Amino acid sequence: MASMRIPFPDKICYGGDYNPEQWPEEVWRDDMRLMKKAGVNFVSVGIFSWALLQPDKERYDFAWLDRLMDLLADNGIYADLATATASPPAWMARDYPETLPVDENGARYTNGSRQHYCPNSPVYREYGQKLVRRLVNRYKSHPALAMWHINNEYGCHISRCYCKQCEAAFRVWLKDKYGSIETLNDRWGTNFWSQTYYDWSEIHLPGKTPTYANPGQLLDYQRFMSDSLLECYLGEYRVIKEGTPDLPVMTNFMPHFKPLDYFKWAKHMDIVTWDSYPEPTAGIPVGAAMDHDLMRSLRGGQPFMLMEQVTSQVNWRQHNPLKRPGVMRLWSYQALARGGDGIMFFQWRASRAGAEKFHGAMVTHTGDEHSRVYKEVEQLGNELKMLDEIVGSRISAKAAIVFDYDNWWALELPSKPSADVKYIEQIRHYYDHLFRKNIAVDFVQPADDLSRYDLVIAPALYMVAEGVADNLERFVGNGGTLLTTFFSGIVDEHDRIHLGGYPAPLRKLLGICVEEFDPMLPGQTNRVAVTEATLYGEYSCNLWADLIRLEGAQSIAAFTDDFFAGMPAATVNAFGKGKAYYVGTQAEPAFISRLLDRLLSDSNVEAPLAAPEGVEVTCREHEDRRYWFILNHLPETVTIPLPPGQFDDMLGRTTVSDNIVLQKNELSILRSLNV
Ligand code: GLA
Ligand code: ZN
Repeated sequence: MASMRIPFPDKICYGGDYNPEQWPEEVWRDDMRLMKKAGVNFVSVGIFSWALLQPDKERYDFAWLDRLMDLLADNGIYADLATATASPPAWMARDYPETLPVDENGARYTNGSRQHYCPNSPVYREYGQKLVRRLVNRYKSHPALAMWHINNEYGCHISRCYCKQCEAAFRVWLKDKYGSIETLNDRWGTNFWSQTYYDWSEIHLPGKTPTYANPGQLLDYQRFMSDSLLECYLGEYRVIKEGTPDLPVMTNFMPHFKPLDYFKWAKHMDIVTWDSYPEPTAGIPVGAAMDHDLMRSLRGGQPFMLMEQVTSQVNWRQHNPLKRPGVMRLWSYQALARGGDGIMFFQWRASRAGAEKFHGAMVTHTGDEHSRVYKEVEQLGNELKMLDEIVGSRISAKAAIVFDYDNWWALELPSKPSADVKYIEQIRHYYDHLFRKNIAVDFVQPADDLSRYDLVIAPALYMVAEGVADNLERFVGNGGTLLTTFFSGIVDEHDRIHLGGYPAPLRKLLGICVEEFDPMLPGQTNRVAVTEATLYGEYSCNLWADLIRLEGAQSIAAFTDDFFAGMPAATVNAFGKGKAYYVGTQAEPAFISRLLDRLLSDSNVEAPLAAPEGVEVTCREHEDRRYWFILNHLPETVTIPLPPGQFDDMLGRTTVSDNIVLQKNELSILRSLNV
């Protein structure tokens, strides 16, 4: 066995989930040949192997994994070794039925698929950690081991459990948080509907209730479930760090996934990794771009890894079309362009049996190197070898969007003025324009230091917790430009109204008072009229209308219809050295685009270079050099003018200047040296 170095931080990781336990060992040897030919240097192993690694309560069997790890090392391929706790073995469900989760109707789930564990089951956690300890002790010095993959997509199927163990744990969590039952009563506002508690034992999980459960309780339950799953992760994490303190540890995240507070989770990961499955024929993957940006932001700009994507088609939508030729490659480079240092797939070889046998893979059911898919995989893997120097380079954004899980949870609790105000949709309303204009965007939490940004957008910031208004005032006071939108500044961190006129804690900063709001019915519209030059015109709006009274701000757009015609629909307020904008409705994209263009130019935030919409441009930087990614998502060939100077075309291995020509699905990565 050759001795190996960890691939981080000097190689782009390339590979996928590898499940060789589904195949006879002769196939493993061919896997090695095909992996090397395709430039694979990294595979995730053991994710769903618990039942094989532990046939019963007492017995473990690592022989096959020993052979696999050795085979990987002999072939120069590193292992992202999983802790295998994502799918407990059948004997656990039989002998410890309390490890199975319970739904809100009190029905217990059964084993036979995956993720059938209660996050607060001590038995599940204990058996899991015992297995992890054995894995760590056995493989800690193995030359193939490069990274630990804890569990898999926590919460993907089961993010809530309503069993007795969870109930007991919830009471403990609440005691820790509130100290006394009186404090809990106050924060949850339990004088409403006779909900007052006199003893912790009276508190249940908000499962089956006749009508709306207490919002404070619902919100705390979401926080509690995120924390419960995080405790599962941390239990395994601690065991791993005892044995291999220097190896990276992580679990894989999911796109715009609501149940887990990923900002909180990411503090306990060495690298953020995530799984991306955009609808393959729905056009430019703006949603994936946003998730790449979020994942990069979770650890303050540290490069992330794309841990899963599919080469061709998935199995879990109603209809599963193929990615068209070239699309897998283009979208892989999108991950790199937005701060990714690894490109991985689910999975290496398409399964013969099981629920995912129709899920695409790097090696298809043809089983050889002649398929279209394998050839694309091989081309990409071999290209990536030319790009290793990009690893570790960063994106520097001057614009940021506030993203807060607590706000997401609270905003979408039931019993609101409108059920149609959805957090991700409200963010996308603004993000999409920045994406189209190739403006680099970070995601930040409301209390983060914002001083490195010139423009901050905080859509639907319904919850304004303590310290947040001060933070935003500091940012604008020092010269920043802030934009926030309707239904912001409404509640505190317990979902209790900020009294004194909306958006109470932001009133001074925005120079407005929102006395009332008038949500619109589906299909209903109003219009906003603008008389001043840059935004001149009339625009449609829907969903929501704020009735705004000016308190120092200026109106920049007014409603045209209904009893509040003529009242402001959007405002700007000069505050300190900066400006705070407010949009009190959901205006059509044309209005948002013009408004954002004005904010961008006022705050001097620019794209790395000018390109038509549909051509994605980003810039990653090392201290002495820059990498310009230019990706053509358009159906036609485009010519992009370059800024003055000479660039190295890293894939074409030539020098270019003046402009580049890109066909459909083509891209360029240009390097320039900082002078
Ligand atoms: C998720 C899981 C994988 C696999 C893929 C299929 O991302 O992590 O195990 O089920 O979905 O798309
Ligand atoms: Zn439970």
